Amino acid sequence: MQTTPSPARPGTLWRHARLATLDGPEPWGWVEDGALLTEGGHIAWVGRDADVGTALASRPAPQAEHDLQGALMTPGLIDAHTHLVYGGDRAAEFELRLQGATYEQIARAGGGIRSTVAATRAASDESLFAAAARRARVLMAEGVTTLEVKSGYGLDATHEARCLAVARRLGRELPLTVRTTSLGAHALPPEYAGRADDYIDAVCAWLPAQQAAGLVDAVDVFCDTIGFTPAQTRRVFDAARALGLPVKLHAEQLSDQGGAALAASYRALSCDHLEHLSEAGVAAMAASGTVAMLLPGAYYFLRETRLPPVAALRAAGVPMAIATDHNPGSSPALSLLLMLSMACTLFRLTPEEAFRGVTEHAARALGLADRGRLAAGQRADLAVWDAQHPRELAYVFGHNPCRTVVQAGVARAAGPAPWQPA
Ligand code: NIG
Ligand code: FE
Repeated sequence: MQTTPSPARPGTLWRHARLATLDGPEPWGWVEDGALLTEGGHIAWVGRDADVGTALASRPAPQAEHDLQGALMTPGLIDAHTHLVYGGDRAAEFELRLQGATYEQIARAGGGIRSTVAATRAASDESLFAAAARRARVLMAEGVTTLEVKSGYGLDATHEARCLAVARRLGRELPLTVRTTSLGAHALPPEYAGRADDYIDAVCAWLPAQQAAGLVDAVDVFCDTIGFTPAQTRRVFDAARALGLPVKLHAEQLSDQGGAALAASYRALSCDHLEHLSEAGVAAMAASGTVAMLLPGAYYFLRETRLPPVAALRAAGVPMAIATDHNPGSSPALSLLLMLSMACTLFRLTPEEAFRGVTEHAARALGLADRGRLAAGQRADLAVWDAQHPRELAYVFGHNPCRTVVQAGVARAAGPAPWQPA
């Protein structure tokens, strides 16, 4: 990842913006009439528009200047939990669920994740890339500048590596940072039926090669009754730790396995889902500084009724992040803005909590300290909105007010994404 400013990239001054910097003690880090200067892909200065003259006095003149006339500017959005690379879809499974079958019943009958595994293994690299790139562009049109992508639909050494390589290619070919997560322990592939421990041996064995190939930034496990046990989770985490890779966990989604406390004992970056999280799990996450990644799309689409313990997380000071969890089975969501609305309406987060959840706290969930706020030294990943205040982004749903996206200092028009058939 590029961290040093490049002199080839010109400085740009953005003036008369309403700034939600998420920096400093003010609610939203608010600056009513603000300005922001980028240089070489990073933010060089941010402050009140009235102070632009003083700020520029000691700097080279910016090559471009834009008057935003009071439009809202925020950090670029970060979708820190997706399963974006897969073949096929599960629209027929959706119909089955509408007729009464449960997600768990479908999974146990060999459908669910395993049907996507079959479609993914059968798909070419090129078609996996094309489908994932289309999905990524839809997210990017709403201001997403950083995206996490998990493997987990290959479930053998070859296909897992292939999916991670497709994710890496997204980061090279689109104006987007992609962070990859190895999720071999997502489901038991059919060839290992009845041999989950042997499969976990295999997952642990292929991690070093994935890391050596530069394919993996973190390691995840689905710890649940239809996933893997806490003991199996521990083995994968030990293998990750031996390689110096950070871990995260699909924890307490369908049942309480004590997964969050286990993950916290490995200083996990995040625990994700958490509808069945216990008080002890909350305390363990607070002590380890682990982010609670809330996924309202999956809660909604599976028609869950048990809410994640938001009040307890808030009281314990656990940072909360929000993501789409885009995947074909439990959350075919392609709108991080809609997740803001759902986080407020369904989970009762405040609009500011939800917005910090797709910026500041999402960055933290990916272990990235260089983004998620508007402050000097941060990456110039920005979004400009046809809005006056960021609470509007959580309030309106079914509409994309994103006007401009800036990624590492380079601006492009946002708005409706082209969706071409494959
Ligand atoms: O995050 N919980 C496990 N994994 C996904 C669902 C994947 C699928 O159903 O294909 C999730 O909800
Ligand atoms: Fe997930």
